Order: sequence, then structure tokens, then C-alpha cells
Amino acid sequence: MSDVRPIELKRIDNKEKANDFINNSVKEIQKEVGNQKVLLALSGGVDSLVCAALLSKAIGKNLVCVHVNHGLLRLNESNLVIKAFKEKIGANLIYVDASDRFLDKLSGVSEPETKRKIIGKEFIEVFAEEARKLDDIKFLGQGTIYPDILESKGIKAHHNVGGLPDDLKFKLIEPIKFLYKDEVRQIGLALDLPKEMVFRQPFPGPGLGVRCVGAITRERLEIVRLTDAILREEFLNYKLNEKFWQYFTVVPDYKSVGVKDGKRTEEYFVVIRAINSVDATIATCPEIPYDILTKIRDRMLKEVEGINRVLVDISPKPPATIEWE
Ligand code: XMP
Repeated sequence: MSDVRPIELKRIDNKEKANDFINNSVKEIQKEVGNQKVLLALSGGVDSLVCAALLSKAIGKNLVCVHVNHGLLRLNESNLVIKAFKEKIGANLIYVDASDRFLDKLSGVSEPETKRKIIGKEFIEVFAEEARKLDDIKFLGQGTIYPDILESKGIKAHHNVGGLPDDLKFKLIEPIKFLYKDEVRQIGLALDLPKEMVFRQPFPGPGLGVRCVGAITRERLEIVRLTDAILREEFLNYKLNEKFWQYFTVVPDYKSVGVKDGKRTEEYFVVIRAINSVDATIATCPEIPYDILTKIRDRMLKEVEGINRVLVDISPKPPATIEWE
């Protein structure tokens, strides 16, 4: 099948067009898959959820989803994904908590691309192990979207499971591969997926792993996770989530001196990164009102152990990138 968006596919910018797409897509999937089973890796991002919802609408119980928790997800993330899936999609879901396995493999590794490769390789291995336990699977579903095809960078390489071992040969089925992100969101809304899942900010496949700068430790990962949760809560509270495209915290592997209860401390610092962008190729840093920033700072310093400073990164892309590694 060609990798060029068909000219007859009109931009999906309203519910009616979304419903048309859904009806056509369901028919196409049914025609292609028939009574066979489809396996799908469910990361919990909007692409994989929409893909799961479409496949489930088309083939029901013949869809088998696997959600791998690599231990680098945000606070409570797996629970949210599972809840949304159970309430709105309802096909078979296999949950694998592989956190320890990933964190053990990543222990002591500080080079960013090596970290990414380890996460990618481990993901494929965990997924392959689950796939081998299942019988009669002929198809592999993937939530590839059009920018993934256009981007030569292939940043999704690690969570698209294209590189499965030779004994696992599946036919690929990619129902949203010609859609842009905003169109995927329209489809998600038309499929009645929860708004907070449909409008989630982009989240990198290697997750908090690339925000726990340097070698990942459980201690710093917890700091990233808790400060990220506070930041997201307050951004939602003050509706800043509508003004920023991506916002998160970063915790480098470096301690600075501070003072607590009259005693000198050496603790980590947290960096707040909040950017605006259209497609991640360039990014700006709109102002975060100072009173909101200080509230966020106070909460982080009070509620999260092991930190003594909160910094704000105001660097646009370029010359910075959005993520720190
Ligand atoms: P950068 O840091 O290159 O990020 O400005 C651009 C966008 O891509 C996301 N990103 C990733 N997404 N796997 C992903 O799936 C990755 O390894 C990865 N690295 C960066 C980043 O969050 C931003 O939206």
C-alpha cells in the first residue's frame, strides 16, 4: 500500500467527516481482517487509543491489546489508560508491568541514545514474549500517523513494533496512518473517548526516561514523576494547559548546595519546561505568570523529597531542543 495520503481523503475537521472516516475505516478493517485476530501495543497516547477504538469497533473481541508499563510512565498513567480502555473500548487487554526489567537494564547507563535504544529493544522483547503466548494472531495493529511517515527521524521507532523477531511475522494494519494529529483527535472525540485522553500533550515513547537526565535512578525518577504531576495539576488548575503545547519537569543528575533546618544539604534541582509549538520543529516559551510559578515552586519544594531548587528553562527551539536529552 502506498505511503502517500490519498487525495480523496478530505481534511477531517468536524464530527460529520470524522464519522464518515470511522464508517469507512471500520468497513475496510473488516474486509481486510475478516475473522482473524489483531494484536496492538497500547501505549496510552491518543494515537494508539484511537487505533484501538477503531479496531475494536470493527472486529470486537478479535482485538488483543498489550499495554507495557516500562516504569517510565507518568504518575498513575497505566491506571488511566486501563480505565479509559475498559470503559470506552472494552476489547481484550493484557497488562504487563515490566518496570523492574527496564530499570535494571537502564541502570548505570547515561548516554541518551543508548538509553533510548535499550528502552526500544526491551519494549520489543517484552511485546514479543506476550505475542508468543497467543495463538492465531495474523495481524499487528499500529497507531502510526502521517507525520510519523513524513518524518525521516522516525522518533517513534521504538514503540512501533516493526522490528519484531523473525518468528513473529504479522501483517501490518495501520488504520490512521494518513491522518494528522488534529484529525486523530477529531476521530477520538467522535468515538467518544475521554477528552483528557484525546487532548493529551505529546509524550515521548521513552517517557520520563529522557527527563531523568543521565543515568536513571529510582530516586530521581520519583522526583521527576511527582514534580511532573504537580506541574500538570496546576497547569490544569489555571488553564495553562490550553496555552502550552508541552510542559514537564526535568531532573539532571547533579546536586547543588542548599540549607534545610539550619543544616547544609546537597540535593537535586528540578527544571520546569513549558513550550508552545505546532509540530515540535520549533518551539517558543510563553510566559508563565509569576504567581503561578511561585505556587508550583512552593508545592514542589514542600511535597517532593530530595530537591532544594526549582529552575525554569526559557530556551526556545532552536537552539535548544524540547527535551533535554
Ligand atoms: P525534541 O527534544 O527533539 O523533541 O525537540 C521534539 C518532540 O519529540 C518528542 N520526542 C520524542 N518522542 N520518542 C518519542 O516518541 C523519543 O525518543 C522522543 N524524543 C523527543 C518530544 O517530546 C517533542 O514533542
